[in-house]
Amino acid sequence: MVRFEPLGQKMFTRRNWLLRCSILINILVILYICSHVMIGNGTGFNGSNTFFIQERGVDTANSAQLIGDKIQPPPPPPPASNDLSLSPLSPNDSGGAAAAAPATAAAAPTQNQVGSAVAGNIGGVAPIVESAVYTNNTVNDGDAAVAEEKDPEVRLETLLNCYDRDFKPEVLQRGDFWVLKNYVRADHGPLKCSESITYTTHADYTFLDNLIPLLERWNAPVSIAMHTPGTDYQPTIDAIKYLRECLPESPLVRTFTTFHLYFSTKHIPKQVAKQSEVLKTPYNCTLPPPYFNVSSGHLYKSQKKLLYPVNVGRNIARDAALTHFILASDIELYPNPGLVKKFLEMIARNDAYLQRKAPRVFPLSIFEVEANATVPRDKTELQEYLRTGKAIPFHKRVCASCHGVPQSKEWMAANETDELSVFHIGKRTGYFRHWEPIYIGTHADPHYDERLSWEGKSDKMTQGYALCVLDYEFHILDNAFLVHKPGIKVLQKDNRRAMLAGKTNQLIRKIIYPELKIMYGVRQGCVV
Ligand SMILES: *[C@@H]1O[C@H](CO)[C@@H](O)[C@H](O)[C@H]1NC(C)=O
Ligand SMILES: *[C@@H]1O[C@H](CO)[C@@H](O)[C@H](O)[C@H]1NC(C)=O
Ligand SMILES: *[C@@H]1O[C@H](CO)[C@@H](O)[C@H](O)[C@H]1NC(C)=O
Ligand SMILES: *[C@@H]1O[C@H](CO)[C@@H](O)[C@H](O)[C@H]1NC(C)=O
Ligand SMILES: *[C@@H]1O[C@H](CO)[C@@H](O)[C@H](O)[C@H]1NC(C)=O
Ligand SMILES: *[C@@H]1O[C@H](CO)[C@@H](O)[C@H](O)[C@H]1NC(C)=O
Repeated sequence: MVRFEPLGQKMFTRRNWLLRCSILINILVILYICSHVMIGNGTGFNGSNTFFIQERGVDTANSAQLIGDKIQPPPPPPPASNDLSLSPLSPNDSGGAAAAAPATAAAAPTQNQVGSAVAGNIGGVAPIVESAVYTNNTVNDGDAAVAEEKDPEVRLETLLNCYDRDFKPEVLQRGDFWVLKNYVRADHGPLKCSESITYTTHADYTFLDNLIPLLERWNAPVSIAMHTPGTDYQPTIDAIKYLRECLPESPLVRTFTTFHLYFSTKHIPKQVAKQSEVLKTPYNCTLPPPYFNVSSGHLYKSQKKLLYPVNVGRNIARDAALTHFILASDIELYPNPGLVKKFLEMIARNDAYLQRKAPRVFPLSIFEVEANATVPRDKTELQEYLRTGKAIPFHKRVCASCHGVPQSKEWMAANETDELSVFHIGKRTGYFRHWEPIYIGTHADPHYDERLSWEGKSDKMTQGYALCVLDYEFHILDNAFLVHKPGIKVLQKDNRRAMLAGKTNQLIRKIIYPELKIMYGVRQGCVV
């Protein structure tokens, strides 16, 4: 807003405005303090009308846990009381799980908060509930802000520094693609950004058989971008309806899953239903699901020899996620159950390694199991599988170094513990310079390059390079892992893919890599 005013008058107005503002703020602070005094009386924390004062200063005991890059197990947290402790997500009540999630939300310092006074004060959830921190101190200026943190939700929003996102359906264009964002929305409705974690992924309808096994383990929001060029539109809609209406597990799908559709402008479906009408006609549930016994050969994409725009899908799903934390993954990778709750608890504990300055993501170890095996539910079971050869590290038989994870042998040997923690802080350098980690990150992480296709391979490498140059730390989680849909991959000769991979390498070397050097810079040891 630009207004033209004589300078003197402008200064006068500004001063006047400042004065009014400060009066208003004073009134607000007083009101705020009053309301807390009354709340304090009402709820009766130890019967005292007190304010919550957090201990200041860096926890030196915690800092001392860092020895080189190795993380020693953190000291056991103080016992949590009911009012602020993280309530577990109900495993079978999907509606309840969504409702329970808000209370589980927890804080991670964003990069600019780390090291600041705020970050130094994040005691995590457990210490705050200790009555010892509620003192009878008299009120001074700083206390209103600290007292505010007594409300876990307010505190989390402040600490995560995230904002809540719209959950509206939209028709958008993204490069050469039409995007139907939030085309079929999850019943959980609008979410607070600090409330849960979103699993973001991409697929065509032939992969939708993975959705229920994924949701049964994840039990939290899923944002999925469906590639639906040409005639793939209708079977995709039918598959979504089938999943939402026809199965005993359908409540999980309805509660948690939001579908976005996208297709190239050159391969637009003949008819696209309005968002408000897409679910109007129900699917005939006696028919088999559209993804039953279909191969990728059935797809419009295959008939027209289109490439799968994997990174367009990844970015659409990520951008539409409502939560601060996101797990950008591939739909065939199933996380271990209980991960969301444990991760948020870990963030809330705010151990010393979470207060480091460098940006970070939290990679999960990835495994494959035999086709006839069930998917292991926890690390102890996984270790049993590894011992008997029923499970192997992901892509061991295809491209070991693409998924070579720092300290993976030590990870596999280490016994499961009750809590989730960071096992090791690694970098994408040296032997791990081609690592394509899958991790819990945030909206702040670099996007995937949309010029790369699934067929051309290396589709996550350029993002990996950006993370390396930006000096990201990879905080590998100790008890968290992904298991691929059962079936161990073996190297298959595919001449078309080999040719496309060659072209992709050229594209990366000649065009994308020089661009990345300009956009992100260079750093010793970082390669695409
Ligand atoms: C989960 O479902 C089972 C059987 O449907 C029921 O016995 C149990 O109480 C449920 N648990 C919760 C936490 O809802
Ligand atoms: C706080 O005040 C209450 C009553 O106002 C008193 O009983 C209690 O001992 C005080 N606690 C401390 C730590 O001073
Ligand atoms: C649903 O499909 C079955 C099997 O094809 C058919 O017999 C039945 O009439 C259909 N029902 C409706 C309401 O269309
Ligand atoms: C799957 O489809 C193939 C042909 O596409 C057919 O021969 C086979 O019987 C089908 N399997 C089942 C279980 O329907
Ligand atoms: C599972 O498959 C493996 C080979 O992939 C085989 O050796 C094993 O006997 C099978 N187990 C069962 C229970 O069918
Ligand atoms: C790991 O667990 C196994 C079985 O519970 C136990 O025998 C072993 O001593 C544990 N190892 C360590 C290092 O705690």
